[in-house]
Amino acid sequence: MPEPKRRLLVTNALPYANGAIHLGHLVGYVQADIWVRHQRMHGHTVHYVCADDTHGTPIMLSAEKAGVTPEQLIARMNREHARDFRGFHVEFDNYYTTHSEENRELAYDIYRKLKAKGLIAVRTIEQLYDPVKGMFLPDRFVKGECPKCGAKDQYGDSCEVCGSTYAATDLKNPYSVVSNAKPVLKASEHYFFKLTECVEFLRRWTQAPGHLQPEALNKMKEWLGEPGENKLSDWDISRDAPYFGFEIPDAPGKYFYVWLDAPIGYLASFKNYCAKQKLDFDGFLRDAGTEMVHFIGKDILYFHALFWPAMVANAGYKTPDAVHANGFLTVNGEKMSKSRGTFITAESYLQLGLNPEWLRYYYAAKSNGTMEDLDLSLDDFVARVNSDLIGKYINIASRCAGFLTKYFDGELSLPDPSSHDGKNLIHGATATGQLLKELYRQRDFSKALRDTMAAADRLNVAINDARPWDLARDDSKRKQLHEVCSTAIHGFYALSIWLAPVLPETARRVAREFFGLKRDFVWEDLKVLPARINPYTHLMTRIDPKQIDALIEANKESLQAAPVQHSAQRHAQHQEQTVETIPSATIAIEDFAKVDLRVARIVKAEHVEGAEKLLKLTLDLGGPTRTVFAGIKSAYDPAQLEGRLTVMVANLAPRKMKFGLSEGMVLAASDAEGKTAGIYLLSPDSGAQAGMRVK
Ligand code: 2FM
Ligand code: ZN
Repeated sequence: MPEPKRRLLVTNALPYANGAIHLGHLVGYVQADIWVRHQRMHGHTVHYVCADDTHGTPIMLSAEKAGVTPEQLIARMNREHARDFRGFHVEFDNYYTTHSEENRELAYDIYRKLKAKGLIAVRTIEQLYDPVKGMFLPDRFVKGECPKCGAKDQYGDSCEVCGSTYAATDLKNPYSVVSNAKPVLKASEHYFFKLTECVEFLRRWTQAPGHLQPEALNKMKEWLGEPGENKLSDWDISRDAPYFGFEIPDAPGKYFYVWLDAPIGYLASFKNYCAKQKLDFDGFLRDAGTEMVHFIGKDILYFHALFWPAMVANAGYKTPDAVHANGFLTVNGEKMSKSRGTFITAESYLQLGLNPEWLRYYYAAKSNGTMEDLDLSLDDFVARVNSDLIGKYINIASRCAGFLTKYFDGELSLPDPSSHDGKNLIHGATATGQLLKELYRQRDFSKALRDTMAAADRLNVAINDARPWDLARDDSKRKQLHEVCSTAIHGFYALSIWLAPVLPETARRVAREFFGLKRDFVWEDLKVLPARINPYTHLMTRIDPKQIDALIEANKESLQAAPVQHSAQRHAQHQEQTVETIPSATIAIEDFAKVDLRVARIVKAEHVEGAEKLLKLTLDLGGPTRTVFAGIKSAYDPAQLEGRLTVMVANLAPRKMKFGLSEGMVLAASDAEGKTAGIYLLSPDSGAQAGMRVK
């Protein structure tokens, strides 16, 4: 009996529009894309959508810092994110934005329906407010001393030193990250979604088969409490102006909290897609036979398994049919780190010419459908990709195809389909195909690839035993050579179909260029043995470990450094960081004279959001000011720096850094690593004036 065709709306978590896509993000996107491709290969209909998550305070402030409007910032990020996903073959049908009319309309509709049901409450609450900037401060925008251990410069929600969590109002000596001002408590009205009234619905929804992974369901039980208990709180869905988002209907100056309209963005992206494709958006969502599946990171389970189903259910929209959460990425067993160079951006990976399918394969090989964290061990990455993909899979075609082209004009010897061999070949490919199909469906890609590689191993053993390179030297063994190589290529054909969800680009080339198909592979192709091949052309190279070294190097956020720099700048920066024990090669006085060193007054020093080492300095040179990003955060509190004099290289070509344009460099002394012995900013003797030349 043919299996019923599924109709799926699949989404990935929407990335925030103020940061680059990195390898940590890609875990969930690659997993979802593999799953979507697998479903499509079986003839199921899948609409796969995503968007940028564009609202909220951090994006508003990032835009302000960069001197652009939020709209300009999110338009740029949208292009970059879409480019990075395409680069990794994550092929959304639509990549949209939450800052869209579709999203506004849907958010208003859902909000109004919740309000009509009596599920919106208005309450006055007190929150920390920055009196200088004139805005309420989210927890991450307040810092101070940890109320438990006294560690300085801890965020308003948790301490990175002792791990305790607390309210921002508990911090000692708090200061606003935005203006450094001391925050004050201020009352204002907030809008709440009455999640407390949804507990019974949520108990049912979370426990329905297939909705959540077992670990996620356990978390839910913890969050929901025992039957009869109600451990939930109502959810604060409003933020006060200034805020970048949608203003709440009939509530001037109040905006939807970014997390209210973010998941609605899934529907908005789909709606926008439906309009372009002339699909029936409302009909799809109403149809009981369609499924809505969300792929997310485990950190946002709370939003997707509680707030989101409760919201859509009560507003009369389709509830999710499954939420699949993935674990976090570690690199070499540790959290990704900018200083170690393991906070690797998607862009740098692609720009350095690394093959995106290597990473897709490695992630898939380590994804078993649970919420476990996934480690990208870089040595293992090189070893595994080279051994499995090149040594086992590609090797089959590269070793055998040439003989078929040379001696048999690309014709494959086909066993009689009714013969024992013929049946065995097809049966082998389809039976394994059945097992793999089930593993892909359950998102146990790890087991699917282990089984695939075990089949590749068997094939390689058979080739090694049959020694086609020896057979080719003996004219009397042509028939045997033909059979051995044809069987190998038939095996390669099946492997290519099994691997197609993971390696879509290679599979596309194998299908079209090598086997001459006019389309991409579908799973049913396993039932038909190909009759001929075109000459083999190179499909994939090995990873050279040097490429990994270059990748790490490019992602190191070093002192005053942008991830990818000009070699001259890298050199200047290196000199600045190194205590030279042996004098460097000499330079002529004319060379030194080219460097325009000036006394500069630091008029403003600020933290840079997301930068581990950098401070943003505004420098007065006696005329217009300059902005310089300096890697001195570990040594200086910004407040200490304001007003003091230092020395800067004033004629360094401006360089575009991740956080903005850096227009020069301040001089500092440090040991070779710039770590152990500290960092010491240079200052002129008293009496020097901003703008004076240093010679
Ligand atoms: O955690 C995040 O990165 C959010 N931007 C995810 C949003 S997913 C969805 F709800 F929009
Ligand atoms: Zn602490």
